[in-house]
Parts: sequence; structure tokens; C-alpha cells
Amino acid sequence: MCGIIGAVGTQNVSGLLLQGLKRLEYRGYDSAGIAVISPNQQLQRIRTAGKVQVLIDEVGKNSLDGNTGIAHTRWATHGRPSENNAHPHTAGDAIAIVHNGIIENHESLRHRLLSEGCHITSDTDSELIAHLIHQKIRQGVDTLTAVRSLIQQLKGAYAIGVINKDEPGRLFATRFSSPLVIGLGEEGTFISSDTLALRPVATQVIYLEDGDVADITSDTVTIYGINGEKVNRPSHKIPSNHEIASKGKYPHYMLKEIFEQPDAMSRTIQSRMTTHQVMAEAFGVNAADIFRRTKRIQIIACGTSYHAGLVSKYWFEEIIRIPCEVEIASEYRYRNHIIEPGTLFITLSQSGETADTLAGLRLAKTSGYLATLSICNVAESSLVRESDLVLLIDAGFEIGVASTKSFTCQLEALFMLMIALGHAHALDALKETDMIRELRAMPGYAEEVLKLNAAIQKIAKGLEHKQNCFFIGRGIQFPVAMEGALKLKEISYIHAEAFPAGELKHGPIALIDNSIPIVALAPNDDMIGKMKSSLEEILSRGGNIVLLTTGQTGMENRDGISVIHMPHVPKLLAPIIYAIPLQLLAYHAAVLKGADIDQPRNLAKSVTVE
Ligand code: F6R
Repeated sequence: MCGIIGAVGTQNVSGLLLQGLKRLEYRGYDSAGIAVISPNQQLQRIRTAGKVQVLIDEVGKNSLDGNTGIAHTRWATHGRPSENNAHPHTAGDAIAIVHNGIIENHESLRHRLLSEGCHITSDTDSELIAHLIHQKIRQGVDTLTAVRSLIQQLKGAYAIGVINKDEPGRLFATRFSSPLVIGLGEEGTFISSDTLALRPVATQVIYLEDGDVADITSDTVTIYGINGEKVNRPSHKIPSNHEIASKGKYPHYMLKEIFEQPDAMSRTIQSRMTTHQVMAEAFGVNAADIFRRTKRIQIIACGTSYHAGLVSKYWFEEIIRIPCEVEIASEYRYRNHIIEPGTLFITLSQSGETADTLAGLRLAKTSGYLATLSICNVAESSLVRESDLVLLIDAGFEIGVASTKSFTCQLEALFMLMIALGHAHALDALKETDMIRELRAMPGYAEEVLKLNAAIQKIAKGLEHKQNCFFIGRGIQFPVAMEGALKLKEISYIHAEAFPAGELKHGPIALIDNSIPIVALAPNDDMIGKMKSSLEEILSRGGNIVLLTTGQTGMENRDGISVIHMPHVPKLLAPIIYAIPLQLLAYHAAVLKGADIDQPRNLAKSVTVE
């Protein structure tokens, strides 16, 4: 995936654009370029082959001054990596454009434009866009109308930024099946293919929808929908570095990060999906092709990230029928594996620096996998730099040692990956749209469960003086039970273990009496009957249950059971939402015990040694 950044500012934006490109460079690119409208209304453009630093050095030798500009990092698809093929592309010395995506009808467009006398200078599909806009403008329309006319002319996926030297102070943007967001900041208004690039300069972000065209100035944004009508797209807050580094109104980072989940989850999914499709290119330039060739999946990770991987196994196997193995990275790296052809190797990591996961990736790269893919929260991390494909989760800095928002965002990312893989393997289009709709609803459900905080705080009192705690779940909820147990043990130091509920009577039930609380995950899914039987077995042995369930199961507070009332969530996505009360339970139990919440003993945020 290429990277786009654009800006209309109150001052010279070339420095901001270059810094933006640097932040987009996390996957390595082959060429880059920048164009600005100078104070004397000329287009100034510099392009270079190689890394962004080459461009920065080149810009340093020239003076590039303008309040309106666009910039791009390219990963060659149509045409080899070269200065000539690098973006921005221009037409008539007036129009400059940057483009992400692939124009499927580029051959017929090129043919037509050449026959109409256009002078096309590159091998790219993207340059054609500049000529299409310029042609329209020559027919007497303004830039906005010309950009809007692209919707009828282009087939394929695109995110486009446009400037016209004759309309300085205005930046135009449109997208279809390729991510593009607008950032609102103090120094101006920005566009980018990735929210991450906007973080230092923007405080709010607006997600464009398919077919939207935006007319942007340094202090206004006007958006037109696919039918040309003015539309309102909501803006979302991007936390500032200061807000990230402070606890704000919260006593601990962990609690703050738990409460940040609805926003982090929205950011993670928003610019990666349209209403009916996950954009394969959000994973990297060759993703669609790699996904088509994927026959199996091998995931490795540690700790919380490993639990996210375990949940996703159910998605990959149940929904799209792709076999998936999940292994703890420190085990994986010391085994002699049988690698089936067509296996996609996936690493999951918040930090991207976990030594075992990184060693596993390095081993995998020499072992004959189809490709490597990393789902990670840190753009500059080693895992991201060394993987073929990447999906950044955009959870924002996670400072508390216990991973919380990264887990729920990793799950979203894995669900998106499942949809993208399913798409490449002819997943039913209606099912795809339904799953995307359900995934979009997750941040809303997260808001809802966070309202249970006070109720969970009361229930946590029952754990304060306990030595041990069990967590049980079945099917896709079992890895969530494992995650709940990990959260509790790492921050409250209460010994906690998770079991699949069906496994209780094969041993653990011997330990059950009224001294051990049992946290049970019992959504109203096809396992509920069996869960109810397990709960009765526990109650009849004097066990005390904390039960996460919905109204539909008919289970209410009674002797031995304290219920946390959960919203009814689609079964396969329920793990994302059921994880949140478990984070809160662990948090409140640890607070009651007076533990060091954000820096639990013996633990480090990033485990960079074996
Ligand atoms: C638990 C926790 C750890 C990490 C593990 C992997 O709350 O934070 O178990 O999940 O150390 O770290 P990453 O995801 O950075 O690879």
C-alpha cells in the first residue's frame, strides 16, 4: 500500500508533508515525491527514487515553499520504481495528484487519453487521473466538479488527493475502496491514507466513505456524497501526545486504556473497510494476491496476543474454513515444523519487539512460508519492518503493562483479516457485508459494557481476599477466559487459571469449594445448555460464580451466582466484548489489593529478551 499525505495550512506545509511521509514509511517504499503550490502560484514538484530520506535531502537542497501541497510514498505496482513513476503526477503544469490503489480500466483510459493528444510521461495508472481532471478543467469546469467526474470514469480502488495551482489554498480528495481520512489540526487541514500519519498534526479525524469528494481549505471541509449531495461525516477525536502521556481523569493508565477502547476500536477499523469490503491493500501491496494463494494459517504470539490468536482460529476455521494453527512463540521457535504449501505466517504483537515472536518471524522467513504478516500496534517496530504484510491496529500508545485495548483491537484486526481472506476465497458477498456491519457495531457495544464498571467494582470485592480464581468458557469464549485469568494474575497476583468448562470434571472440579471464585463466560450461544450444566455442577459443590451472561439465558443473581449483565452480541464477535468486563474485574481486584497496577512486579511492557 502506498502512502498519501496532503495539507492546506496557514504557513508553508512542505516540512509537515515530509514528516508525514516519514511516518508512512513504516513498511519501506521505493520512491517518494512532494508537490506544493508556491506563493507565486506555480506548481513546485520534487520526486526521488529510494527512501523518503532521499526526498528529504533533495528538498533540503531546494527551497520548497507553499501553503497547499500533497506528498506520496510509492510501492511500485504499475511501472518500475523510478523518479518518473513516482507521485505526485501532474497534468498541464497545473494539476498535481497523488493516488493509492489500482485503476482497473487504466488500459482503455490510457488509450483514449493518448488518442485525444495527452502527453503521458509515466508508466503508471495514476498519472491518467491527473490528465482526466485536467481535461475536464479545460472544458471549463472547476476542480471540484472535475474531481467529482472521476467517479464515473474510474474503475477499481482509489484514494486520491488533488491540488490545482489556479486554486491555491484548496485541496481536493476522493476515495473508493481505498482508505483516506481528513485530519483537522491547528496548523491546517490534512488528508492521509493512514490516521497514524496525522497523529502529531491533527486533533480530529473524519473518515471519508466510498464515493465521497472533499473540498478542503485550511479551516473548512465540505464533503459531497456519491450522488453529489452535501453530506455530514462525523469527526472523531485523536488523542494528543500530551493526553496519551497523562492519565487524565483516571487514577491508572490501565483504567484509562480500558476506557479508551471504543475510540481505539473505531480507529482500528474505520479506514480499513468500506461498508461492504475490507480493503486487502490495507495489509500491503501484494496482499490480495497472497490472500488468494493462502491455504493455511500459522499464528505465533505471546501472552495476551497469543490469546487473540486463539480466538481468531475459530473465525478462520468456522467462517472461511481455512485451517489455522496458533502457537506460543517461545515454543514455536524451538520445534521442527511441517510447513504445508500455501501457509501464511502471522505474528501478533502489541509492541512488535517481543524477542520470541521476532525470532519466530526470522525463522519463518527462511522456512518456506507463503508470506509473513504482522498485526501490531507500533509502526516503527522490528516486526512491522521485517514482515511482508502488515496491519497496524492503531490502539494508540499502551502504557499500562497489562495489555487491554491492544487485545480488543487485535481481535478486530484479525476479524478484518478473516473477511479479507474470505473475500479472496469467494466468501458470500452478503455474509461479508453482514460481518462488516457487525464489526462496525463493536465500539458501540464496548461503550455499553463500560457502563458496567460500577457493578463490576462491587463484584471485585469478592475476589480481594482470595488466593485462587478459575475462569471457564467454551468454544470461542475459552481463549477469553484464558485472557481473563492472565489479566487477574498479572496485576492482582491472585493465582488464576482458565479451563474449558467441559474439562472441569476431568480434574479441576476436585478443587472446587466456596474458597475459589469461578468466573464463567456464558453468552446466549449454542453452548449455553452445556454451560448451564457445568454451572450447576459447580454450585452443587459450594462454588461461587461470577457469571457474564445476557438476559436471554434466563440466569439471574441467586445464591452462589453474581451476574454481570452483558448486551446480546453476535456470537462470533462476542469475545471482543466479553474481554472488557474481565479487564475491569482484574483492575478493581488489584486496586483493592493495593497492587502496583501499571507496573506489576517482575513484568515489563516489552519483552525484548528471551
Ligand atoms: C499481558 C501482556 C503480555 C503481552 C506479551 C506479548 O497483559 O501484556 O502477556 O501480551 O508479553 O507482548 P506483545 O504483544 O508486545 O508481543
